[in-house]
This record gives sequence, C-alpha cells and structure tokens, in this order.
Amino acid sequence: MPIVPSSSESVSHAAKLLSEGEVIAFPTETVYGLGGAINNSSAIEKIFSLKGRPSHNPLIVHVHSLGQIQDIAEIPHTKAFHQLSEFWPGPLTLVLPAKHSVIASVRAGLPTIAVRIPSHPVALSLLEEVDIPIAAPSANKSDRLSPTNASHVAEDFGDKLYILDGGACDCGIESTVISLIGPKPLILRPGVITAEMISKALSIPISEFEVQSASELKHSPGTGNKHYAPKTPLYFSDEVSSEEIDFSKSGRIYLSSGKSIEKEKSQFQVTKILSNKGDQAIIAHDLYTALREMDSLNLRSIVIDRPKPVGIGRALLDRLLRATQK
Ligand code: TXA
Ligand code: MG
Repeated sequence: MPIVPSSSESVSHAAKLLSEGEVIAFPTETVYGLGGAINNSSAIEKIFSLKGRPSHNPLIVHVHSLGQIQDIAEIPHTKAFHQLSEFWPGPLTLVLPAKHSVIASVRAGLPTIAVRIPSHPVALSLLEEVDIPIAAPSANKSDRLSPTNASHVAEDFGDKLYILDGGACDCGIESTVISLIGPKPLILRPGVITAEMISKALSIPISEFEVQSASELKHSPGTGNKHYAPKTPLYFSDEVSSEEIDFSKSGRIYLSSGKSIEKEKSQFQVTKILSNKGDQAIIAHDLYTALREMDSLNLRSIVIDRPKPVGIGRALLDRLLRATQK
C-alpha cells in the first residue's frame, strides 16, 4: 500500500482500517508509530510480528484525552500525574497501573500500561476519529532506527502497510518515558521533555527521579542494550582512532561545527554537521535521518560525537550509547 498524504479523507480511511483491526503507520511529533486498536488482539499480534518485536516488550498506548486514560489505567501519585499531564498533548509517556480489561499482549503481561497523548495534529485527529486507544510502537523493525518521516517507514515495511504521511516529525526521537509505579517517579527513557523540565514541574531534584541502577530498569523491557542502531558499526569519536578504523571509508557525523573540524573532515569519505550552533533540538530532529542516510552508503563505519548529558543531550546520549553497542 502507498504512502498517503494526510487529509481529512485519508485520516478517516486510516481510522476505519484501525477500527476493522488493521495495522497502519501514522505520524506523531516524536517518531512514526505502527498502530493497532487495543481492543483487537489480532491487530496487536500483527504489530509484534511485523516489527519482529519480542513479546516481552510492551507497547505504548496512544489516546486523545485524560478520560480515555482513565478507561485503561489507574492514576497513582495524583499530584505528580497532574503536574506531568501538563506536558500533554506532547512527547511524554507515563507508565501507570493497567486496568484488568486491557488485553495482556499490549502490556506484555505486565500489570502496568504506558500511555501518551501525542500532539501531532494528524495523530490527534486520527485518535479522535477512531475513538479507541491505539497501541503504537515506533514504526521500524525491532532494534533499528525509529522512522522520522513516511519514507523511513516504507524503507522498513515496503508496500505491506498503509502509511499516513504527516511530514517530518518535530522532535525526531522517541518520547520521554516516566514510570509512576514505584514509590517515586522514575525516568525510564529520556527524551525531549528533559529531566530539567520534569524537575521543575515536580519541584524535585533530578537525582530523585533519575535511574540510579540497572535493577530499577528491570520493569522496562525495551530499555535493553542494543537498540536504535544503524546496520553500519557506529563509534563515538572519542573511542576510535585512524589506526583502528579506516576513516577514508567511513562517515563522520558532527553534532556542531568548530575550528578543529575543518582539518579532520577531509579524512572521511562523507561528513555531516547536524547543527552549526550545536542546537540540541535540531540535532535530535535530524539525528536518525543522518544515521539512515549514512547507513545506506555501505560505509565501513560511522563515527559520531558523544553528546553532553544535559537537557536533550541526555536523550541523545542514551540513544547513541545503545546504537554504539557491539
Ligand atoms: O515517541 C514514542 O514513544 C513512539 C511514538 C510512536 O509514540 N513510540 C515508541 O514506542 O517509541 P516503542 O515501542 O518503540 O517504545 C516503547 C518504550 C519501550 O522502551 C518499552 O519497554 C516502554 O516504552 N514501555 C512500554 N510499556 C511499558 C510498561 N508497561 N512498563 C515499562 N515500560 C514500558
Ligand atoms: Mg522503538
């Protein structure tokens, strides 16, 4: 099936397909999602099989309103919940206790459910029209880079899928995931809603909700090691030298421009500067596209700067630490 430009007709058609138990791809402000209605177990099974996703990795459920969240989840820590829900619609996912009625495959058998209200206008109108919560992981094959435009989705799934085209995603990386299950909120996956923003919203220091140990992550199966990776081996620039890898057959991604780059650039087959001024939002917006483009060039390796762990940099570093896992 083709990539279809979003319009009121195509959104209605996509809503109809979803209500009939089909799986479709749609844009969100973070990355494209591979959606299926949560009341249809064969649609959920199809999502797992299309992606090649292990059945122990639960899905994020997308809704259009707080009312829909109350249909599928309990609300613990009500004060924190309301403070964080101020980020909706937007790139934030909350993990909450699931109502028993939610079919187990969506939540990979866990007693919890991840929910978010996306802000992309196409996603919101689709969710309003279908009016059933839609489970949607990122629309990529398992462990690969998330898609930030419609053609990325087609690269992974070809013509098997109805793909609603809503342009390039604003954020370019996946939503921030926060668990409200334990005694205190916990960031399971950093994102564009930064730890600094969450700290301000909750009036608590970052150290209180940052994950301190691997065991705190054990309930978020999708946060396993290798993930978000191009096929070409990816290295941080501070961990390889020209003796170890052949720069002339490699690509180099710079997060920002600078004087030292000019000398180094010529050693590489291909280079890309993501943001001259090192603007983190621009880097996030273009990171996966740059990695996909370099991945298509049959390079020996790709070398990238290590992001600084502040603001959106925490999310960039998180994704790149997984993508550089060998
Ligand atoms: O931005 C996004 O979140 C995108 C768009 C499409 O909304 N979706 C996305 O989904 O990134 P996915 O499936 O690629 O990532 C879901 C993440 C995984 O790390 C998964 O383990 C975690 O959310 N997750 C889902 N349900 C969970 C639960 N019940 N408890 C803990 N973690 C959960
Ligand atoms: Mg994903």
